Amino acid sequence: MSHRMILNETSYFGAGARAELVGEVQRRGYRKALVVTDAVLVKAGTVAKVTDLLDAAGLPYELFDKVMPNPTIGVVQEGVAAFAKAKADYLVAIGGGSPQDTAKAIGIITNNPDNADVRSLEGVAPTKKPSVPIIALATTAGTAAEVTINYVITDEENRRKFVCVDPHDIPVVAIIDSELMATMPVALKAATGMDALTHAIEGYITKGAWELTDALHIKAIEIIGRSLRASCKGDPKGVEDMALGQYVAGMGFSNVGLGLVHGMAHPLGAFYGTPHGVANAVLLPTIMAYNADFTGEKYRAVAVALGHEGAGSLPIGEVRKAAVAAVQKLSDDVGIPKRLSEVGVKPEDIADLARAALADVCTGGNPRDANLADIEALYRSIL
Ligand SMILES: NC(=O)c1ccc[n+]([C@@H]2O[C@H](COP(=O)([O-])OP(=O)(O)OC[C@H]3O[C@@H](n4cnc5c(N)ncnc54)[C@H](O)[C@@H]3O)[C@@H](O)[C@H]2O)c1
Ligand SMILES: [Fe+2]
Repeated sequence: MSHRMILNETSYFGAGARAELVGEVQRRGYRKALVVTDAVLVKAGTVAKVTDLLDAAGLPYELFDKVMPNPTIGVVQEGVAAFAKAKADYLVAIGGGSPQDTAKAIGIITNNPDNADVRSLEGVAPTKKPSVPIIALATTAGTAAEVTINYVITDEENRRKFVCVDPHDIPVVAIIDSELMATMPVALKAATGMDALTHAIEGYITKGAWELTDALHIKAIEIIGRSLRASCKGDPKGVEDMALGQYVAGMGFSNVGLGLVHGMAHPLGAFYGTPHGVANAVLLPTIMAYNADFTGEKYRAVAVALGHEGAGSLPIGEVRKAAVAAVQKLSDDVGIPKRLSEVGVKPEDIADLARAALADVCTGGNPRDANLADIEALYRSIL
């Protein structure tokens, strides 16, 4: 049996790391960029922190800032047209998961025009050519979309969010500059940080997990566990550590998959526009408890990584409860709501949500096989 690992060609870390952008563009001989981002980041001045560098170096680009959270098929298609119109030859993605994912879809479709409908890219995408080169600058911590081979697009017409998995979409360069993340409001830091924790925990217990990804996921849980609260309080070291922790989780889960938390979170984004990290965070403790008997000794390592004293010697039943409690406490401490009704979930939608969750690409990676009745019951238990 073999294991596959796909990572960026080059990645940079640390406050101010965006300064490396110009050298990378020049070394790679790229001519003109389409900068893919969103209007909030333009207004906040985050985009200028990057485009000022391109301006100063005389590197041409055009701006596409129409991305919205939970990006749609329509916005991807507009982006593909903007890329062609700009006569660009590479993409610079500046943002959280939404601009990163949109840039991936633009890059893939530009080089694989048979998939211009976008929907045909769902699942393991059948593309033949790599995306146009993407340089990804993350502004949340986060989805780790800058290092993953996935992107998630919303099909508004069919009220679905679908995951595309494609080694051809990985950004060639990722820049993880915590100064671009410092402007996140507290609620966004909390939500995206809990998304990263969910990646680390689901990636750690997913069916395809193995020793190398286990090492990455446990390290990510430890970093996120010690730094998310500090990041939410505005401590720059906390923000920088979260930037790293979310990336380390991405190095792992991108290569082995996720589980039922993501499978059940995606329909919430599609139905109600629930922020992705909030949807995951509300679901995570309950689904950890549902999976507990299928995780061997792994929750012991989770409890240790989250700083639970004595976790090394507790009986496994107790340590599993301690791991779930530590995650719930972190979620509570950063102000995540506890019930799905608080994020707008309606009881009459649960059967449809459960059907969508069962069909989601992530659900198959869950360590415990869930059926439709299980998923409905899980949604109802936290309504
Ligand atoms: N590709 C992957 O592997 C992957 C993994 C997980 C999630 N996702 C997807 O990513 C999307 C979520 O991405 P996200 O949670 O990073 O949020 P996002 O990109 O949707 O951004 C949410 C909001 O935060 C704002 N924002 C972003 N950075 C900011 C900053 N530094 N300062 C102030 N405001 C800022 C944005 O303008 C936007 O309004 C979802 O669609 C999700 O499904 C993708
Ligand atoms: Fe996620």
